[in-house]
Amino acid sequence: MTQEAQVLSSLKDAPIEQVFRPNSLDYSVNPVPQCLALAERGRLVWFPPWQAWIMTRMDDIMDCWKREYLSSDLYDWQYAPEVPPKEEWSNFETAMIGHSLLADPTHHRLIRKIASPAFSRNVVDEIQRRIEPDIKKLIANLKDRESFDFIEEIAQHIPFISITRMVGVPEQYWEEMKPVIMKFTEAWNPTLTPERREAARQASSRAIDILKLVMAERRDQPLENDFLSVLLEAEKKHEDFEEWDVITLILALIGAGADTTLVGQQWTAYSLLKHKDQIDTALSSLKAFRNAFSEIMRWSCKSKMGFARYAPEDMELLGQQVKKGQMILLMPHLKDRDPDYYEDPDTFNVERVFDPDVLFGYGPRFCIGASLAKSQLYLTMTELFKQFPNLELDGEPERSLEDHNAVTFKKLMLKTNNNR
Ligand code: HEM
Repeated sequence: MTQEAQVLSSLKDAPIEQVFRPNSLDYSVNPVPQCLALAERGRLVWFPPWQAWIMTRMDDIMDCWKREYLSSDLYDWQYAPEVPPKEEWSNFETAMIGHSLLADPTHHRLIRKIASPAFSRNVVDEIQRRIEPDIKKLIANLKDRESFDFIEEIAQHIPFISITRMVGVPEQYWEEMKPVIMKFTEAWNPTLTPERREAARQASSRAIDILKLVMAERRDQPLENDFLSVLLEAEKKHEDFEEWDVITLILALIGAGADTTLVGQQWTAYSLLKHKDQIDTALSSLKAFRNAFSEIMRWSCKSKMGFARYAPEDMELLGQQVKKGQMILLMPHLKDRDPDYYEDPDTFNVERVFDPDVLFGYGPRFCIGASLAKSQLYLTMTELFKQFPNLELDGEPERSLEDHNAVTFKKLMLKTNNNR
């Protein structure tokens, strides 16, 4: 038993907030004992610091994903921001409330179905084709460096490159789009000041104006296998799918795709460099990498929170009395190093078999950007190791406590060793 596991075991009867401390340095260095200790507390655990329930077991989470008996709509939360009267709605509120992709399961399923051609193989390949030169350039610019910070020089640029290239936003608007893409989720983050939330909301409203301009141009001149053109074609065909649905969908992609990509990039570079003997296998093909990425995310166990749901009514759930509006966080990552779930959970093995593979969720809300995310990561990693075959970690990176959702690094310094 590790030292921390011993300490946690001695806290068996202590309040859960003394045992599970996802914003602590201990957690960021080794989250595993705390995750296991939390899961041991039961299937549904009340966590006072977040005023939320935590769903800990995979069977229960799968059932919730499948049957969707809880709400995914932020506005069903007891602490949701107040909804202003409709006549006062800004662009932001029109997109997030009036056309919410999340609100009603029937509408959600319809939008997913209508929008699915925009995530087809041909469209994803075309997005990749557009992103590739940007990524190659980003990495080639570092070729004379002895060392660099992977986060600053590469990872933090990727979400912006992907979204702007995916939508086809002309470069003249990039400066205005940039803060929105990286800070969009600040608009409803309850832990920030009202001023900061308002600034993010205003920047988002301006970004929506830009999106409308780009959409108008693309309606006049559609492109082949182009993400936005495919969505605009769907808009023409389906009366249930209009301009605001397209905008909401793009904002959802920004909200769900930017941070996850940033975090995924750092942990992929770190994990592969920690297990250099597995790099060739992991990058041998896109198919091999898809599996390797699931292992990277499992091994890193880097999540701090989970996926939020809200109780639609007072209900008995997994033996607990849950009140209408309370948040329930699904935490699939608690299983990631659990020996009852995975054989040899502390071993990193990019060929591990995942059945089922739930990294990207399951059921009606399965990640819409999954194939895009994996292709982008594959592209970055193959290019990185092609240009820097002798790459290594420049020491153990210090963890950052800033991100409330995931364990990240302050910097990820890499040595290129290109003259070796
Ligand atoms: C890099 C790693 C990524 C991981 C591990 C990941 C994981 C997930 C998971 C687990 C869900 C389900 C959440 C839930 O049940 O509440 C989800 C949903 C979603 N993801 Fe991802 N994601 C990633 C990247 C992306 C990217 C790059 C995009 C966009 C381009 C994206 C867009 C979305 C959207 C829009 C949803 C909501 C889908 C819906 O409600 O129908 N994700 N993601």
